[in-house]
Order: sequence, then C-alpha cells, then structure tokens
Amino acid sequence: MTSILTIPKPDDWHLHLRDGAMLEGVIEYSAKDFGRAIIMPNLVPPIVTGDQAKAYNDRILAALPKGSSFEPLMTLYLTETTNPDDVEQAAKSGLVKALKLYPAGATTNSESGVRNFDNALPVLERMAKIGVPLCVHGEVTTADVDIFDREAVFIETVLDPLRKRVPGLRVVMEHVTTKDGVDYVKAHDKDLGATITTHHLIINRNHILVGGIKPHYYCLPVAKRESHRLALRDAVTSGDARFFLGTDSAPHPTDLKENACGCAGCFTSINTMPLLAHVFEEDGKLENLEKFASQNGSTFYGLPINSETLTLIKGHEAMKFPNEIQTGAGPVTVFDPGFDINWRVEA
Ligand code: DOR
Ligand code: ZN
Repeated sequence: MTSILTIPKPDDWHLHLRDGAMLEGVIEYSAKDFGRAIIMPNLVPPIVTGDQAKAYNDRILAALPKGSSFEPLMTLYLTETTNPDDVEQAAKSGLVKALKLYPAGATTNSESGVRNFDNALPVLERMAKIGVPLCVHGEVTTADVDIFDREAVFIETVLDPLRKRVPGLRVVMEHVTTKDGVDYVKAHDKDLGATITTHHLIINRNHILVGGIKPHYYCLPVAKRESHRLALRDAVTSGDARFFLGTDSAPHPTDLKENACGCAGCFTSINTMPLLAHVFEEDGKLENLEKFASQNGSTFYGLPINSETLTLIKGHEAMKFPNEIQTGAGPVTVFDPGFDINWRVEA
C-alpha cells in the first residue's frame, strides 16, 4: 500500500551547519526538507556577538541553493562575558532568536562555555526580561559524574536551580536523551520546551557498543539505555506541545569519526523526515508527526507555521540513501538507522 502524508514544511530547531566548505556541502539537505532552522554557534571561534551572527548569517545565505527560501535563525554562544546590550540589540533586530549554553567542555568546540553562572546572570536576566530563549546543552562535565548520568545530574544541580534563580527565563532543553529529561519537561508547563533528535528515537547505547564500536552512532549527549529511548518516543509521538524536532545533525568528515578519538555527532539532515515518518507510523501516531516537526517549535518560538508544505510518500521499495555525501571538507557519513525505510520526500 502506498501512503501519502502532506504537512506544513518542517523546521529544525537545532542544527549544525558549520562554515566554509562543510557549510557549502551540507546546507542543500536542510534547505530541501526544512523551512527554517536554529543554527548552532559552536564554530571555531564561536559566534558570540551580534556582528558575528550577522556575518555568519550572510555566509549561510550565500551558500544556499539558488531560489531557496530556507531561513537560518541565528543564535549566540553564551559566554561569561556576553554583553546584555548586544544581545538585546541583536534580538530586537530580529536576527538572533536564542542564546546557546554549552557548559565548558561538554562537547565539540565548547571550551568558551560557561563555568561560573554568577558571571552570566546579567545577560540571563536580560533575556528573561525581553523573552529571548536559552537553548541548553544539558550535561554536567565534572569527571566524577558518569557520562550516562550527565543529563539527570545537570537537571538537578544546574538547570532547576538556574530556572529558580532567573524566573521567567525561557529555556529549551536541547536533545533530551533520558526519561528524567522528559519527566522534567512534562512537570513544568511554563517557559520550558525541549528538542529531541531523530537518532535518539532510533538508537540506544547497545547500538553504539554491541558487536564492535560504531563511531557513527556516537554523539553527545550519548544515547542511553532502551527505557530512555522509549520515553523519548512516547514524548514525541504523543504530540505534546512542549516537544519539538531538533535534529542536532552534526556533520564531521568520516575520517574524524572513524578515529582513535572520534568526534561526536550524527549527520541526519538528509534523511530525517523519512526516518521520522517511519518512527511515527511504527508507533501508530503518524497524525502527530506534523505537531512534532512543523507546529510545536513555531509555537514555542512565537513564529508562524510555514505556509509551504512537504509531502512524504511511502512506497513498496526501500529508499536508498547514500552511505556518504561528498563535501569540500571531505566525505560525511550519513546516519544509517539499521533497517529499511520505505518513506521518501516527494521530489
Ligand atoms: O553530538 C554532538 N555533536 N553533540 C553536540 O552537542 C555537538 C555536536 C557537534 O557540534 O559536533
Ligand atoms: Zn548540537
């Protein structure tokens, strides 16, 4: 049987586009299936000022395929010296939609992240006042905390105290990977949303470690045990408005993933929508894909739902995605779900 699903064009509320040759090599895939994306600022050096965000925005627009209406939504990387006036100006001009908190050392290019929240209080208070959300990489990075517990410990020791300290601060818990994260979001109605990636709906930690180490399944936060994956599936397929799609598609050249010290990140912008159609159909909730991918994030960010549409078609034949895409920065391995996908995006 062939099935067809048409939804408002999805948005990606957490995306790494990189810069230069990598940006030029990957942007077409996001531009094809998504209307807008929240662009992560963890370049080297990071995007920390409104002027830098403007210049990066220009480079992204210049790299887009001709005629594309894809809209990058810019973010600033929160540091202990971020200037509240610069943030306010960049937000009021419409350029910057959120700030990103990386605890120092949490992941790829996070060395300029926050160590002492006291120093970031003035800018966080200004963000609460003017309604600019803080996108949070929710992991503690202290050596005494097990990597599989980083998210739960972050919620208890950093996030919850921070939200109490800065009332009214709007927070997006990025790439939630645990039942603890899902439960925290569900328990707090006000000023809180969460993104969930495509790959965390599909893999658990066994996929990374059983039968040989699979570097292309390594990302941060690292995938957790199966019960957590199932909690994520329930959260997104329920249609709950607090959960929205953020692919965290994070391209690295294949040789830096297949490496003695491999980089964190899965490249999913090319096949996310067929994968999500599969996931939602498998859980009997295809009708809620639209909420997760096209509606809930717009509502959280106070933006209109896209007027363009995207059509997904399920055929008899399994879709063939490339194993790798070629970019000027080297080949990038495409996320492989490990099972057949019969959905495709209508050309
Ligand atoms: O897996 C990840 N890759 N997680 C992150 O938080 C960062 C990202 C990257 O930039 O490569
Ligand atoms: Zn990310």
